[in-house]
Amino acid sequence: MEKELIEQNKEDFLNIARSNITREGIDGLLKFVESTDFFTAPASTKFHLAEEGGLCQHSLNVYERLEKLMIMEYGEDGYNKESVAIAALFHDICKACFYKIDYRNVKEDGVWVQRPYYTVDDALPYGHGEKSVYIVNGYLRLTREEAIAINWHMGGFDKRVQSGESAYSVAYSKYPLAVLLHLADVQATYLDEQGDE
Ligand SMILES: [Fe+2]
Ligand SMILES: [Fe+2]
Repeated sequence: MEKELIEQNKEDFLNIARSNITREGIDGLLKFVESTDFFTAPASTKFHLAEEGGLCQHSLNVYERLEKLMIMEYGEDGYNKESVAIAALFHDICKACFYKIDYRNVKEDGVWVQRPYYTVDDALPYGHGEKSVYIVNGYLRLTREEAIAINWHMGGFDKRVQSGESAYSVAYSKYPLAVLLHLADVQATYLDEQGDE
């Protein structure tokens, strides 16, 4: 990703956060985000947006998708813009300080060269959605709906769900934000980024 786009995305991310989130603690949360590799990290090791700046780009894509879904469902002024910004922008904050660059030897035109690749090096092994909730809630108090939406945003891709946990479907039946955040995440990943979780 071009350096200019990475910078632009960072600016957009901070602007969306500052103009939509007024809850106490947002300054501390944004300071924390800026202290991590969030704006330069990839969104995955080799699937969707596995490139510098991918994580922030993905978060912005999810925000755009979630806004559209909210407007379709409830109209321009019929939804909570602060909750949408919090849920979309920070749903994958668990992926900050999560990837590192390693090198492997690859044979190119008969010559061995070192090529970089992303690998996982999790500084805080707390899970995925549950980890994002833990991090965000450490700075600003999430509403129950926001916490549940972020926690279950992976839907059927969640390892807990794949192991038989069914609380996410109860959560989806009670909290529309959880359903729509998951849909926005899938749309961003597969339609905008043409990737794989
Ligand atoms: Fe995720
Ligand atoms: Fe995501």
